[in-house]
Amino acid sequence: MNYFERVKSKPIKKDPLILGIESSCDETAAAVVKGGREVLSNVIISSATEQAKYGGVVPEIASRAHTEAVSQSVRRAVKEAGMKLSDVDAVAVTYGAGLLGALLVGVSYAKSLAYALDIPLLPVSHIRGHMAACYLADKNLQPPFIGLLASGGHTAVCLVKSYTEMQVLGSTLDDAVGEALDKVARVLGLPYPGGPNVERLAKEGNNNITLPKVLKNSDTYDFSYSGLKTAVINFVHTKEQKGEEICKADLACSFQSAAIDVLCDKAIKAAEEYSIPTIAVGGGVAANGYLREQLTKKCRYKSINAIFPPKILCTDNACMIAAEGYIRYINRDFADLTLNAAAQVKIC
Ligand code: KG4
Ligand code: ZN
Repeated sequence: MNYFERVKSKPIKKDPLILGIESSCDETAAAVVKGGREVLSNVIISSATEQAKYGGVVPEIASRAHTEAVSQSVRRAVKEAGMKLSDVDAVAVTYGAGLLGALLVGVSYAKSLAYALDIPLLPVSHIRGHMAACYLADKNLQPPFIGLLASGGHTAVCLVKSYTEMQVLGSTLDDAVGEALDKVARVLGLPYPGGPNVERLAKEGNNNITLPKVLKNSDTYDFSYSGLKTAVINFVHTKEQKGEEICKADLACSFQSAAIDVLCDKAIKAAEEYSIPTIAVGGGVAANGYLREQLTKKCRYKSINAIFPPKILCTDNACMIAAEGYIRYINRDFADLTLNAAAQVKIC
């Protein structure tokens, strides 16, 4: 029997210890999750400080940083979980979407580990991983629920029908919300990563500048952020040309509410239309305090339960990869050793 036949013939364990590995962007992460819901360790080694010098992620720097950190992150994750590498029951790895060179580091490492330990290799979509972080936030969460995905690469409202079936109700027609936050941050002279810095500055300002809430009142669940981003850029340029001062805090606050309010409204609209009283939010932008507050408040009025992972599980991490890996594991959705990295993957 070859490796793949051997692992496929093994029985499925009840509470497997799954090692997750994530390397799609600038975080090298490794984590151990037990039974798909219990976090035993969560190691994140970030190259964000290095990337900040260049105002964004430089793919070559990310790949090199992953190569240096991947082995250390796995060793630490296993140690912090209080176990040995040989106790791991399966290895889950992000195969896409993301930077190809960065993904390849995690995928190659996970393949070698799965082969050496003779355990299943679980291929995980980063996008699905972000949604699976919600299973770690609420141990009782089960489909169906409305999934709101808000990250640097994706923005979508989904109907999560089962642990494996997800239907995209609408997604962004251009920029993702996180991408818009990062680009506007740059216009405001804020360092990378932009989202948390926009949030910080917005706290000091008022929502007193009228900006377009694009597609807010449309019938679809689609989003569009490029018009909003351009409106902010035009606002800044016009003020500069007139020699007028800009209150950056007001602009950050007004932009943040324009970008976030539409996310809340569309997720609630989906919950009402499909009569599903639970909204679970995933992705880096789910760490945003204003989004957390607004959605929780708006949902309370409608008796909808809003679920957010803890902030550390919103941005890139490997717990979410192990959690989604658990779903692959119990469905015996194993990869063989030809698993490759993919820069793009469909939301579902
Ligand atoms: O999910 P993530 O870590 O990576 C992707 O899969 O894209 O999301 C990164 C995005 C970035 O655009 C970052 O600016 C944004 O999430 N972000 C935030 C916050 N923390 C991270 N945006 C708003 N407020 C935050 N606190
Ligand atoms: Zn992500």
